[in-house]
Amino acid sequence: MYKIENHKVSDAARAHTHLDDAGYQRMYKQSLEQPDQFWAEQAERFLTWDKRWSKVHESDLSKGQAAWFIDGKLNVSVNCIDRHLAEHGDDIAIIWEGDDPSDAQRISYKQLHDKVCRLANVLKARGVKKGDRVCLYMPMIPEAAYAMLACARIGAVHSVVFGGFSPDAVRDRILDADCQAVITADESVRGGKRVPLKVNVEKALQECPNVHTVITVKRTGADVAWTEGRDVWYDEATANVSADCPPEPMDSEDPLFILYTSGSTGKPKGVLHTTGGYLLMAAMTHYYVFDYVPGEVYWCTADVGWITGHSYIVYGPLCNRATTLLFEGVPTYPDASRCWQVIDKHQVNIFYTAPTALRALMAKGDEPVKSSSRASLRLLGTVGEPINPEAWEWYYHVVGEQRCPIVDTWWQTETGAAMITPLPGSTTLKPGSATRPFFGVEPALYDPEGNELEGATSGNLVIKRSWPSQIRTVYGDHQRLVDTYFSTYKDVYFTGDGARRDEDGFYWITGRVDDVLNVSGHRIGTAEVESALVLHDAVAEAAVVGCPHDIKGQCIYVYVTPMNGVEPSEELVKELKTFVADQVGAFARPEFMQWAPSLPKTRSGKIMRRILRKIACNELDSLGDTSTLADPTVVQDLISNRIAHA
Ligand code: WT7
Repeated sequence: MYKIENHKVSDAARAHTHLDDAGYQRMYKQSLEQPDQFWAEQAERFLTWDKRWSKVHESDLSKGQAAWFIDGKLNVSVNCIDRHLAEHGDDIAIIWEGDDPSDAQRISYKQLHDKVCRLANVLKARGVKKGDRVCLYMPMIPEAAYAMLACARIGAVHSVVFGGFSPDAVRDRILDADCQAVITADESVRGGKRVPLKVNVEKALQECPNVHTVITVKRTGADVAWTEGRDVWYDEATANVSADCPPEPMDSEDPLFILYTSGSTGKPKGVLHTTGGYLLMAAMTHYYVFDYVPGEVYWCTADVGWITGHSYIVYGPLCNRATTLLFEGVPTYPDASRCWQVIDKHQVNIFYTAPTALRALMAKGDEPVKSSSRASLRLLGTVGEPINPEAWEWYYHVVGEQRCPIVDTWWQTETGAAMITPLPGSTTLKPGSATRPFFGVEPALYDPEGNELEGATSGNLVIKRSWPSQIRTVYGDHQRLVDTYFSTYKDVYFTGDGARRDEDGFYWITGRVDDVLNVSGHRIGTAEVESALVLHDAVAEAAVVGCPHDIKGQCIYVYVTPMNGVEPSEELVKELKTFVADQVGAFARPEFMQWAPSLPKTRSGKIMRRILRKIACNELDSLGDTSTLADPTVVQDLISNRIAHA
């Protein structure tokens, strides 16, 4: 295969770059040494404010508190749309590529303005006002972006729930945020398959009495359940309202959205982001990391149901007057050349995707890539999990033909924007390394006791100071924010990731150090899958671990102790896997399930996951100390019955 080596910036031909290495060094230094001046300059440059802030920043990480651009006023939809209209209203804001290759749409900034204002007026007419929460459960269609921006326009807080989630998961998230309105579609279409979103919403709403409005986009025309009075069709409702909707003036610290993510307990966390700091960092990273210049076509393949879709399909790009491509389908439909065909069709300049997608495409060989020209491509990006150097080199040589730098961006739902990432034109690229911190980001490595480690070493990754797009709270449970992120170590943000720092100070993310799995870029808490399993009558106890997987990065391996009297069978295995998929979402379906008459526990009753992981991953010679187990013979049984896999 390809040789794994560092790539100097000069290796890659580029049309332009915003910064060279000296520029990065200078700005990074200023961002840490004169943070208020630095961030004030950036906030003026990237955003349009209705009223200037009185203070740039205030934070107390020991309490999980941060505020940016205090007293500043601005509206996100104005920054993403209105301010571009005078001179660039006819520029294309969104290119939509449907699941079916013959479906596409181009939406100008003027049209975007019209759509967003109408939907905002529909929400207002239904009584949705500033601060109210609106759940979006949408396919990847332009209306998803309209809905986000319409909420932002009137100051409503959106909570996008990924379209792959089950009705139960939708219900839990609607209840947790106390959403009063839902925007959805009759069905979504992905890879030729349909998902009945509206039917799922109907099921979810059986237990959500506070939802007074459901707005449904007609995507496929499928029959849907309908509740008179509560339900309206998107098309009818938006046709009959004014296209004039004055924006709500928002405080910089007013909430913009809630987005649920998995942690190490069974209950998903509603990560809350606010207005000014979030938008600034989304826009600024989009500009520097993707080296973006208006006029270029930029494509991020994420789903709007995840933070990547929020920051890098909608908010960052539109704030920078970009043309952002929204793709409804999947990379392998109708065949493995789809992404490259789309790149040629829409003349995409910048392409941002996930390692799991690259590995799946790489497995299909080079032919599907080479059937396209990709001459428009200038820059490539990756996000979501560590990229293995083999996939990196394939991306670089085959997809990018050694012409396009690759930006490997490390960040999280909680960070709002890219935190450790190369800047093209400035950073030497090392395959597998997310490289260096973005401006204002001060990473460090800690040992388990909380000592900061110096030099080339490995440790737990923390961030030592507040940054503008930092999580502000866990919705409805600030203590949980403090416990999860600000208590492991004093006065710093704990990421939950481990990392190595090399001699050049470059960071290599090694993966989660908590009980969170990353399956095909989907973040799943082991406790979420366990809680789902124990809801089943046949299950007494369950333990979930992650195993390495060639394409998915990690896969789910579960141990199940059956209820007394339940006879383990192949059918029951299937049923339980499907049960998890129904409870959580199809992406959480366990790959392997092993029956465990009992689980290895300490004398105090704690399940020893470390041992279970090693058995599942066939690392039997490094089981470690089993002497603290209440009953060491349990392990032998588990080993003899382990499910062999690659
Ligand atoms: C976790 C966050 C925000 C991006 C989408 C996922 C892992 C993310 C990288 C990367 C190595 C990465 C981390 C992180 N991760 N990007 N470039 N290299 N690991 O957001 O669902 O909040 O997951 O994804 O483990 O903690 P998320």
